[in-house]
Amino acid sequence: MFVAMSYLAVSISARTAEEAIDQISVAVANGAKMVELRTDFIEDLTSEKVGKLIAHIKGQYGKPFPIIVTCRDVSQGGAINYPVKMRIDILAGALRAGADFVDFEYNNFTVADNQERIKVALSDSVRGRLILSHHDFKNKFENIASLYRKILMFYPPAIPKIIYTADDINDCFDALDLLYNASEQCIVFAMGQAGLISRILAKKLGSVATFASLSDSQATAQGQITVEEFQNIYRSDTIDDKTQLYGIIADPVGHSMSPAVHNACFGDAGLNKLYLPLLVEGDYDDFEIFMNNVLRRSWLGFKGFSVTVPHKENALKYIKAKGGVVEALAEKIGAVNTIVVGPGNKLFGYNTDYAGAIEAIVNKVGGRDKLMNIDAAVIGAGGVSRAIVAGLVDAGAKVKIYNRTTRKAKKLAKQFGCEYASLSKVGGIKAELLINCTSVGMSPKADHSPVPIDVFRQPMVAFDTVYNPLETLFLTHAKACGAETIDGLEMFVNQAMMQFELFTSKKGNRQLMRDTVLAQLGK
Ligand code: ATR
Repeated sequence: MFVAMSYLAVSISARTAEEAIDQISVAVANGAKMVELRTDFIEDLTSEKVGKLIAHIKGQYGKPFPIIVTCRDVSQGGAINYPVKMRIDILAGALRAGADFVDFEYNNFTVADNQERIKVALSDSVRGRLILSHHDFKNKFENIASLYRKILMFYPPAIPKIIYTADDINDCFDALDLLYNASEQCIVFAMGQAGLISRILAKKLGSVATFASLSDSQATAQGQITVEEFQNIYRSDTIDDKTQLYGIIADPVGHSMSPAVHNACFGDAGLNKLYLPLLVEGDYDDFEIFMNNVLRRSWLGFKGFSVTVPHKENALKYIKAKGGVVEALAEKIGAVNTIVVGPGNKLFGYNTDYAGAIEAIVNKVGGRDKLMNIDAAVIGAGGVSRAIVAGLVDAGAKVKIYNRTTRKAKKLAKQFGCEYASLSKVGGIKAELLINCTSVGMSPKADHSPVPIDVFRQPMVAFDTVYNPLETLFLTHAKACGAETIDGLEMFVNQAMMQFELFTSKKGNRQLMRDTVLAQLGK
């Protein structure tokens, strides 16, 4: 790994110089530490326009603020089809105007005439360096390490920039390995949603730059995240080669609140830790491949994982297959939502979902002993119900499961020794505790409730595991009937607090967790 300054760069893809200046000021305000001027987007492009832009940036943001100038060939993703001779003139002019880096396509550089002209331009520049880039917009490269060597052998002073497309998160490891093994400065990452972690980890592994977009709508490449997210969620300024890694393994993962919540708390506690969204598609085999990839590379520094749909059962199976230890109730539930990686890659599995839910109930009823023999009605028979039923039965509650598909309620009830009924029989129940473990009422279908309003009464504790919206129709009805309520955010924060403690051996900041979720929900 070549440890050097690693910059958070924003690609500026404006059609005019004025638009570019506006974009640059937004980029810098949001945390960009470098800009890439994609001059192939500028209409009626001239060297003079580019020179003025460079002078503006250096004048406004100071000499150390680095600039890459690119005038990309359309065959490598360029916008306007400018001829190669003109593109080289633009780069030469940029070097004269003080650009720190110019980026040219490796393929075009192997053409003798192009190469000669770029070398002359470089020899006239005091500090300008050449980035030789090579992209694959569809696939990954057959052998990325040999491509890296080929570029460097062809022109040793170059900074190789190798970008490919990831189809699956496991495709990222080629980029991460190359960064780790590189002897010289380079820029490497994978595009596409599946390539996300390679962009975020580029900084940890010393890539000269990683590229962020100005806003979601202005991404110049697939899978870019915004500069604001890099700074605020992924704490770009604090990442270095020592940063320990965590993440949530899920599919889908895009809407998970966990990265925002855990990263905010890592920052709050002053810990050099980073939490990533880990999109692992597929079944147990895919989960296993991902975990093996991560654990085999101890230099990545993964120390823990949150696990959610559809991998909680896979996590349990994997830990056992690796000789790890699974907490007894997680084993009974058949699902692990937290993995801790101990010394020597020893794995520990927990289920903070059930614990988070039970803690929320215990706080409301005034003690765990109050759960003994309490009449509890659980709506739903999926994964969430399973965890909560296990926790309630463990605490001595008398549980009855109501589900739309009675067969599933029966199966779950049999396993935990409780009663069951069809959801259509929920009217007239006498439960002291009523818990919605279905997704009914979740945004955007917030005008639904899994039960009719007349099931609520006083005294009763009504708990909805849905937290988006915070006050579901189920909870609105419960309050209207005088029942006490627990919202899903309470459970979410409890389980996240427990995970945070398992990850760090420190207490998390409960209020910050709650505020972070509310801020995300408000977006
Ligand atoms: P999770 O892991 O989040 O619990 P799940 O395993 O898919 O998700 O379970 C979803 C639960 O919500 C199930 O109990 C499901 O009922 P079925 O077993 O009959 O499918 C319940 N559910 C989902 N949509 C529902 C609806 N519209 N009305 C009633 N129950 C519903």
